[in-house]
Amino acid sequence: MQDYDVMQNRDPPQEPVAAEAEAKLLVKGVTKWFRTPRATVHALEDVSLSVAAGEFVCLVGPSGCGKSTLLDIMAGLTRPDAGRVLADGRLVEGPGRQRLVMFQESALFPWLNVFDNVMFGLKLVPELTKARRRGIAHHYLELVGLQKFARAHVHELSGGMKQRVALARALAPDPQVLLMDEPFAALDALTRDQLCDDVQRIAQESGKTIVFVTHNVREAVCLGDRVVLMAPRPGRIAEVFDIPLSRPRDMNADSLSGPTQRIAAALKATAGVGEARQ
Ligand SMILES: Nc1ncnc2c1ncn2[C@@H]1O[C@H](COP(=O)(O)OP(=O)(O)OP(=O)(O)O)[C@@H](O)[C@H]1O
Ligand SMILES: [Mg+2]
Repeated sequence: MQDYDVMQNRDPPQEPVAAEAEAKLLVKGVTKWFRTPRATVHALEDVSLSVAAGEFVCLVGPSGCGKSTLLDIMAGLTRPDAGRVLADGRLVEGPGRQRLVMFQESALFPWLNVFDNVMFGLKLVPELTKARRRGIAHHYLELVGLQKFARAHVHELSGGMKQRVALARALAPDPQVLLMDEPFAALDALTRDQLCDDVQRIAQESGKTIVFVTHNVREAVCLGDRVVLMAPRPGRIAEVFDIPLSRPRDMNADSLSGPTQRIAAALKATAGVGEARQ
């Protein structure tokens, strides 16, 4: 199970390479092929991207352009065929506690209640006492507004609440980097807007480095310091947009419309068909 893999800390100790140590996350010339009996897919070709500490980078692009593959490679869940990823100047060779992934489906454990799901994330930090872990779990449940549901079972939660628990579970071990793969795609617009507000607030307060995949261009503009547009066949970076708007940003603010329209137009041109949602 992928979620189990995330819990393994397999980054080897190494000395950082000085020139590359400045980027929190450095993707260099990453190429990936998938070969199955039915097809060979050139998922990524020579993708390079540098993400600074505390930066919020959003990835957008048409379906199948390799966003999830790139995120999995950054997480160390998938190995590239060529190129490499460095985190704090160290080669990423597997998943690590400092880079946690949050998926579209919350991937919570249905046999554990809300509190124990968040406690599970804290197994990554074995040096903490049980009392300290409990305190941290309560803190993050409060942060995502679910303290009253600590004893609830997962099946009793709405989709939005499940994603809040997943967010609390990902935040609890205090990773420096959060990799989020369409975490709000399955939610209604209102819940999504609320969660975007929360993620923006948490990102600002915690200074975490975040890479966030979304199909929703307005969401990307609302959250991102930069929006990276990817193109398909093979997956590659087509264009990078700086979003210098002040924060906090309101998902429905007029100021988001200009960059949203520009990126959506570029996305449509990239995809060849109009699949961008604004
Ligand atoms: N494990 C796999 N085996 C074979 N092909 C794969 C595998 N994972 C991804 N691919 C292929 O690689 C390409 C990129 O897939 P990926 O999931 O990264 O795209 P994506 O941009 O995340 O798409 P979406 O927006 O639909 O989530 C696709 O053509 C997909 O079919
Ligand atoms: Mg995907």
